[in-house]
Amino acid sequence: MSSSLFQMRSYFFLPCLMILLFLLLVVVGGAVVAGEKKKKTKVPAIIVFGDSSVDTGNNNFIPTIARSNFWPYGRDYADGLPTGRFSNGRLATDFISEAFGLPPSIPAYLDKTCTIDQLSTGVSFASAATGLDNATAGVLSVITLDEQLAYFKEYTDRLKIAKGEAAAKEIIGEALYIWSIGTNDFIENYYNLPERWMQYSVGEYEAYLLGLAEAAIRRVHELGGRKMDFTGLTPMGCLPAERIIGDPGECNEQYNAVARTFNAKLQELVVKLNQELPGLQLVFADTYQLLANVVNKPADYGFDNAVQGCCGTGLFEAGYFCSFSTSTLCENANKYVFFDAIHPTEKMYKLLADTVINTTLHVFM
Ligand SMILES: *[C@@H]1O[C@H](CO)[C@@H](O)[C@H](O)[C@H]1NC(C)=O
Ligand SMILES: *[C@@H]1O[C@H](CO)[C@@H](O)[C@H](O)[C@H]1NC(C)=O
Repeated sequence: MSSSLFQMRSYFFLPCLMILLFLLLVVVGGAVVAGEKKKKTKVPAIIVFGDSSVDTGNNNFIPTIARSNFWPYGRDYADGLPTGRFSNGRLATDFISEAFGLPPSIPAYLDKTCTIDQLSTGVSFASAATGLDNATAGVLSVITLDEQLAYFKEYTDRLKIAKGEAAAKEIIGEALYIWSIGTNDFIENYYNLPERWMQYSVGEYEAYLLGLAEAAIRRVHELGGRKMDFTGLTPMGCLPAERIIGDPGECNEQYNAVARTFNAKLQELVVKLNQELPGLQLVFADTYQLLANVVNKPADYGFDNAVQGCCGTGLFEAGYFCSFSTSTLCENANKYVFFDAIHPTEKMYKLLADTVINTTLHVFM
């Protein structure tokens, strides 16, 4: 019994193609579990939009250099397989899915080996290096937010065909939608390239981005989504790659201040949309404070290093640069807040997931 449960569990970590090979196991294991499980989960699916913080492998299937489907990414994932997640293991959204009684990893929409049945309990449309702004997605030719929404529309149509109108409507209406996006609009685009910076003051750019966030939320609401979480920005000036040059560099306080003002405006938008859109239950998830606390006092959370990523020098490497510098890979990623110079380790993602669940998402449980 317990061994068949374990099999069920690790089965969900595998890419969909490999999952197919284990179909029989699940049918048998599922029958055993079904008899015991009486409580129906309120949230039948987790549906994700965003950037590398929640991309579970979509960029593997598009021509871009914003990739992580190679060693050392995925080093601590089931079977040490790289999946396209920018971390050593799972992401916060994977842990959230598991906490909701859903599969412990969320498949990528563009993985064509995933059947619509496999996607009906959770799917990620996210794309590493994207932003709310089209121009941000353009920098490394990744999937724009508009394209993510178009894929979501296609997904709802596929669900209706596969499950029938009523069941599809139930999934879409009761699912939890999670957005994690916006950091790249500042660090990859606004502060990195001249176009938006010359066009907008930072306040104007924030307003522009919030307008795009609002349009995306309205679009999902129009298609039937009701339970939603918009995740705030983290202290992005404390990402190893964004620290001021120095030894060790200080956090870039200008970037952190932008994250705080953006988050404050996002919270106003959340209040406004909850008033305007019928049936909407939109929450704001604060991740800023936790990350700020961890970076200030890593030892309180069991970390040794919050300044450098685990791979390479830990100061600038991400994506392919991490694969070039494996000779200097850290031994134990659990001691590090960041796996590369931009992205958290699995341990940090687990802490983020638990915190967001305890402070915010528990209302949907
Ligand atoms: C973003 O791209 C869409 C098409 O994908 C286009 O309709 C829209 O005008 C673009 N917006 C900007 C600001 O470039
Ligand atoms: C979340 O809540 C659970 C149950 O109350 C608790 O055991 C856990 O330590 C909390 N985790 C965090 C990160 O707040």
